[in-house]
Amino acid sequence: MIQWFPGHMAKAKREIEERLRIVDIVFELLDARIPYSSQNPLINELLQGKPKLVLLMKTDLADPKETKLWRENFQREDHQVLEVDALSGFNRNLIIKSSLEILADKIERDRKRGLKARGVRAMIVGIPNVGKSTLINRLVKRKATRVANKPGVTRAQQWISITGELELLDTPGVLWPKFEDHKVGIHLALTGAIRDEIVSSHDLGEYLLNFLRSYYPDNLKERYNLDLKFSNPELIEKIAQDRGFMQSDYEERVYNLLLSEFRNNLLGRITLDRFNQEEE
Ligand code: G4P
Repeated sequence: MIQWFPGHMAKAKREIEERLRIVDIVFELLDARIPYSSQNPLINELLQGKPKLVLLMKTDLADPKETKLWRENFQREDHQVLEVDALSGFNRNLIIKSSLEILADKIERDRKRGLKARGVRAMIVGIPNVGKSTLINRLVKRKATRVANKPGVTRAQQWISITGELELLDTPGVLWPKFEDHKVGIHLALTGAIRDEIVSSHDLGEYLLNFLRSYYPDNLKERYNLDLKFSNPELIEKIAQDRGFMQSDYEERVYNLLLSEFRNNLLGRITLDRFNQEEE
């Protein structure tokens, strides 16, 4: 996993800018659980008006009500946006169709000017772990290609033909996430976009417990059989007892349990960035 330093960001930015010159459209991948925190802070500056299709990834893990609010918000801002579940409900044709729609004017102009028809060229960008290599593999219909999660991995670029009408650059652009405040950092760490060590598991677990209490009390009640009129220390003690955590460090063990169950999708469909709080 990458640690982002200013040098890395400058290099990633330069590389993406170079590749942008040769593409017609960008697929901007956002994590549907954190549509705000997973946005690169300089994305619009980077793209400089290049057409884009926003793909809300991992919608199978996110709260459908929140995903709808976020999607409508992006649409109000005039962005084309699709919800993607790359693991089970993948709609490859919809992504192809939307790309061609966004570029319809350009395709028509090129045709009129008698330019040799070629597929429109797309490139994927997004923060680490958002699903870039999974999406490439699904579009290409192949099993697996690991795409190194390192900024500045240089190798020959290749076009992969998705259909006769769409070609994809095989190396996605790895973007750095926002680093603007503690909450954004926590949301990125909880979803695996940044290293765990940046925020302690104690802080992450404590945040998650309070968050679930506020926004997903039923998920919490159901999973751990809890009565939410009790205080956090009481809840933690109850979970510890149920799970047989006897040692004095039971609080840490409960926080680690919460984190691992969240990350293994055992707590239900959860969106961390709340639309009404994060919209600007
Ligand atoms: P990246 O290239 O942007 O860094 O992300 P990558 O495709 O490697 O995906 C990161 C993790 O997210 C992978 O899981 C992948 O399976 C998962 N993922 C991608 N898209 C979706 C989606 O739409 N829904 C769900 N639920 N998960 C998705 P992993 O646990 O790291 O390992 P593995 O599955 O690659 O073994």
